[in-house]
Order: sequence, then structure tokens, then C-alpha cells
Amino acid sequence: MAAEISVNKLDAAQATAELARLAAVLTRANAAYHREDAPEVTDAEYDRLKRRNAAIEVAFPQLKRADSPSEQIGAPVSETFSKVRHAVAMLSLGNAFSDDDVADFEERVARYLGMSGGIAFTAEPKIDGLSLSLRYEAGQLVQAATRGDGETGENVTNNARMISDIPKTLIGAPEVLEVRGEVYMGHADFAALNVAQEAKGDKPFANPRNAAAGSLRQLDARITKARPLGFFAYAWGEVSEPLADTQMGAIARLAVLGFSTNPLTGRFEGAGALIAHYRKIEEQRATLGYDIDGVVYKVDDLELQRRLGFRSTTPRWAIAHKFPAEIAHTWVESIDIQVGRTGALSPVARLTPVTVGGVVVSNATLHNPDYIAGRDSKGGLIREGRDIRFGDWVEVYRAGDVIPKVRDVDITKRSADSVPYVFPDVCPECGSPAVREEGDSVARCTGGLICPAQAVEKLKHFVGRSAFDIDGLGKKQIEMFFKDESLPIREPADIFTLAARDAKQFTKLKNRDGWGDLSASNLFEAIEVKRTIPLNRLIFALGIRHVGESSAALLAGHYGSWKALVTMLDSAKDHTGEAWEELLSIDGVGAVMATALVDTFHSTETRAAIDRLVAELEIQDVVASDTSGSPVAGKTVVFTGTLEQMTRAEAKGRAETLGAKVSGSVSKKTDIVIAGPGAGSKAKKAEALGVEIMSESEWLKLIGEGG
Ligand code: IVH
Repeated sequence: MAAEISVNKLDAAQATAELARLAAVLTRANAAYHREDAPEVTDAEYDRLKRRNAAIEVAFPQLKRADSPSEQIGAPVSETFSKVRHAVAMLSLGNAFSDDDVADFEERVARYLGMSGGIAFTAEPKIDGLSLSLRYEAGQLVQAATRGDGETGENVTNNARMISDIPKTLIGAPEVLEVRGEVYMGHADFAALNVAQEAKGDKPFANPRNAAAGSLRQLDARITKARPLGFFAYAWGEVSEPLADTQMGAIARLAVLGFSTNPLTGRFEGAGALIAHYRKIEEQRATLGYDIDGVVYKVDDLELQRRLGFRSTTPRWAIAHKFPAEIAHTWVESIDIQVGRTGALSPVARLTPVTVGGVVVSNATLHNPDYIAGRDSKGGLIREGRDIRFGDWVEVYRAGDVIPKVRDVDITKRSADSVPYVFPDVCPECGSPAVREEGDSVARCTGGLICPAQAVEKLKHFVGRSAFDIDGLGKKQIEMFFKDESLPIREPADIFTLAARDAKQFTKLKNRDGWGDLSASNLFEAIEVKRTIPLNRLIFALGIRHVGESSAALLAGHYGSWKALVTMLDSAKDHTGEAWEELLSIDGVGAVMATALVDTFHSTETRAAIDRLVAELEIQDVVASDTSGSPVAGKTVVFTGTLEQMTRAEAKGRAETLGAKVSGSVSKKTDIVIAGPGAGSKAKKAEALGVEIMSESEWLKLIGEGG
């Protein structure tokens, strides 16, 4: 590229050309950044280009483009594809990494169902592409959507129509049929595409998966058409009538309807046979012609699948057995400490960049001080006690999409003057002491709210995908607003006062570098939309230690409203009493989580910040959506004694699916106790409290499953 001419030396023609170039570069950089497929420029370079663009616009206001990058922030993706709410959520899969994990999976399934084995499973390759849901009505393809966050995806119907593996019409299909599967790009096509990209001066794709994603998510469907994409069908969403009785049968039916299904799909009994098939697929991996990253096992009998159901975001009836991680070797250039939202000091190795399984890696986690020192949490040795130091030659690995890790170190390549790494005892961000509590593997900054790193990480978590998910307010914008002097966001409540504060300002956000009328009003609008928030998202967004997405959903489901939750946490302040016991009785809430919750709400400053936030919000109570007709929705039930018709786990799963809360202990709040043979103290307590007691058969009849 020719050297850049400084802005004050540009003439009008050069300025026009330069604005066009910057618009193209910044739009592309924006797209790459927000899709996180492949960032193309560094943050610093991005900011520099944006400043240059703004400066040219100031010098030549008449040349400002209609699509000026100054007017764009946030994710172009969400503005360009419309959103689609999936009729049936698109789930992910739990992982198995070892043969033992597979045996455990089989055992878990059998235990849940109360069977002693003899359960058949399908096994098929796990395609490394991106999942797509195709909706057919009366045999016509009416909609195609990406997975997105599992609940809402992007409408890519026009693009999907360009893929030859995807039938546009079906003959003999159910009235409504959602077919799910994976879009991928084969190795040969990927190589050819990259040659073409480079010939055009475009950046090559990092791997076939990114190429497939980039090719499908094109606003101009003609581009998708020119890209050779394949599609394997392996699952379904909404169907107006069942496809078959078994997974194998359903896949065969999809094949008859004209879909490509994977030829390595088979049916097996027992973990041993599944693992044998896994080995066979692993042997063929290199010659398949497309990327796979494991083998998926699914319970074959669809009635058993129904009984097994789901656990927050993954089915109990399936698992992905992943191939071993890819490894590579490189140098540790330095060790940095990152401070997370809960104050944890996480050591990160900065590496000489190296390609690990098709992706360039320059950072890897070192977990915690013990890991660096070559010890595990119990004082045992890892890597036979070899520690990790600056300048070491290390083995790094990457499994799936997770952050790369350092596995081993070659101390024969270590220089004689190297010294062990000394873990800091103060927070590198705020200088507060960093302490390691007993039983905790990490050191934590004690700065709390005064630590800027904790505050900024909490805010990033707050706006994250499973939390408030505000369009146009991502990590990058949080960093910017956090540092802003006149219009700062320092705590969550500040997000919701942003527009009002901006209105009072002399320099409005819309006049700032990188912002315009449209981008500012879009942001305010996106924030306004999220002022109304479901209870579970709010709880998760608070970023309380030990309270993840599924725990937040559990708490929201149990208490139903913010008011009920806070009232309970307030009364549980001393870690005793009825409210405390109730909290502990929630299946899935242990003492550690309960303590973190209660203590967070009783830390004066944190509580004040939470109250300031809540005052800005409209919190939606939990409505058990699909349980409206359920006779037990909202009821608290306790199972005690022996169940004879299904296992305890299945009984609990069924009750929860029907909107009931399952508790482990009986109190005044219990509505029903289901007592089987051998029921003891719980049944007695229920009797004393006047709680309704019924047998398992009565319960099954109540929920409509009685024979
Ligand atoms: S089944 C309810 N089968 O893996 C289970 N998924 O990690 C639905 N994937 O989001 C998924 N090959 O994108 C299934 N043969 C296969 C698959 C497969 C690839 C992807 C899919 C899913 C992800 C979960």
C-alpha cells in the first residue's frame, strides 16, 4: 500500500479516495471484530484509522460519505440479518474427553431411566461447521436460521437457498418440519477459496469453519452461491408429526426426503461399541475431506430421549466425544496477570505466535500460581514438578473453542540464568493486596469495587450475551465508556442513565469521535429495550461468584420474582433460619453458592449498587411458559421414600418440566409430598404441618402420566 498522505496535505480527489478506502477497511474490520471470526486489524490500528477518517471528514465535510464509518458502531450483523426466534431451542452438547467419560455417560443415562443397560445409541461424526435450522411448511423451505444464542438466531433464508445440499421443496414431509444440521466447507473447496481470496488481495480464511460461517452470513446471497458449502442433516426442531420412533429411523427418513446424512452414522449398544466406532472414525478423519472434531452419541429410542429430556442447555440423551486436543510448541515471552470480574488473578503466558490446529495462538492460560509452580491443588506434582518460567519452551494445546493452555515445559531448553516466576501478592491493576483464601486455587484482589479491572470486567459480563446482551454495547464500548470523563459508565446502573445524562451534556455523544446521530440514538434505543429484563438474566448479570447461567435460572425459577428473592436473601443474612434453609433446599444450590449470594447482598456498597441498578429496571417475573396447563406449575414438591415407577432423577426432571419446584426438605411452603415405601421423617413432618401427601401413582395420575 502507498504511504498515507497526512490529512492536511490531501486534495479533494485524494480525500474522496481515502474516505472510500477507510470506509471499506473499517467496515470489514468491524464485521470481523464483531463476528469474532477473525479480527483483521489490531485495536490500536482500528482506532487510528477511525481517527484519520474523522479528521478527513472535518477537513472536507462536503465529502462525508452516506455510509461513513463515523456513523457505525456495534455489530453490523444484528442490523443486517433479521432475528428469528427458534420454535424449539437449538441446544449444545456436553463433552466427553476420555473413554471413562463415555462409560459415565452410558451409566448416567441408564441410572436416570432406571435401566440396567442394553440401551442403544447412535454414533456419528461431529461436523466442525456451523449449525443451521431449516423450516419447511407444506413441503416448502420457508426459513433458515443460524443457531445464534440458541434461542434467537439470524435469518439467512436467502443464503441457505443457494446451498445445493439443501432441498427447497420436500415431498411427503410432515406439514411442519424443522431440519437441523451443519453447514461446512470441504478441504479442497476451502483451499481453492483461499487461493482465490489471495489472488484478489483479500485475506485468506483461518480454517474451513470460518470460511463456511463467512460464506453463509453474506448479505449478498450471490456470494454464498459462489461458495461451495455442504450440509449434513442430523437433528430436527419443531415437527407436526414424529419422523420415526428412533434416531436412526428419523435420520433415514431425512435421507429419503432428500437430505445428505452422514454415511458414518451407526447404531451400537454399550460404551465399548461406541468407542470402537469412535476409533474407526478417528482413523478416517484425515481422509474424510471435511473437518470433524469428535463423535456424537445419541440415545436411539426417541421415547427414551423424551424421558431423558434436557438439563439447562444440553440434552441428557446425547454427548460429544471430542478428539484429543491439537498441540504445538513455542516460547513463553512473558507472563501477564489478568484480573477478572471476581478479582481472580489469572496468569496468562504471552507466546511467540504458533499455529495450533489451524489457529494462530499467542496467549495461553496458566490457570493459577500452583499450576505455574508444577503442583496441583492438593499439593501433588504436575509435570513431575517442573515449573514454568519466562523464556521457557512449552507445549500448548487447544481443545475445541476453549482458550489454549500450556501443558508441558522442556527444561532442557531452559537458559542457565532463568529464575522461577514469582506470583504477585498485590493486584497489578489497583495495588490492593491479593490473597488466597484457604481452599481457593487462585489469588484474588481484595480491592472490590475500587479495583478498576474488576469493575470493568463486571461490566463486560453484565452486557454479555447471556446477560443483558445490549446491541452495540460490547466489550470495546464498555472499555471506552469506563474511561470516559464526561459520560462515564462505571457501574451497571450508569448504563440506564446514559441517555438522560447525555441529554444534559454540552458535548453530546453524537458529536464524539466515532459516533454520529444514528449510532448514538441506536445505542440509547438498544439500552432502552433491555430496561425490561427477565429475572434469570438479571441474576446472572450481577456476576456473583458461583452463580452461573443455570444457577441463575434455578434461583429465578424457585423465587419467581425479584422481590421474593431479595426478601429471602435479606432474611437469610445470618446463614441460619427458615429462609437460609429454603435456599439450601433448592436442588443445585449448595452452601458455597448460598453464602456467596447472601454475602453479596449484604456487602453495603455492592447492595447499594444493585439497588441503584434495580431502580432503573423493569424486572420480568418468571412465567412458566409451557406449563400453563400443568396442574403442578409453581407447586413445591418433595419426593421421599422409594419410587417404584421411575428413578428419583427422572421424577424430578418430569416435575420440573411441568413447572414444579423440587425441594429436598419439607417446610410450611411445601405443597405436595410424594411418599413411596420407606418414607420416614419427611412424611411425618409433612403430616405434622398439614402438607398434602400422596403416593407415586397418585402423583403420576395428577400429572397425567398415570396408567
Ligand atoms: S446434535 C440437541 N449432531 O455440535 C443436540 N450436533 O456442540 C443437537 N454438531 O450445536 C446437536 N455435528 O452445531 C449434533 N452430528 C451432530 C453434530 C452436531 C456437529 C454441532 C452442532 C451443535 C454442536 C454442539
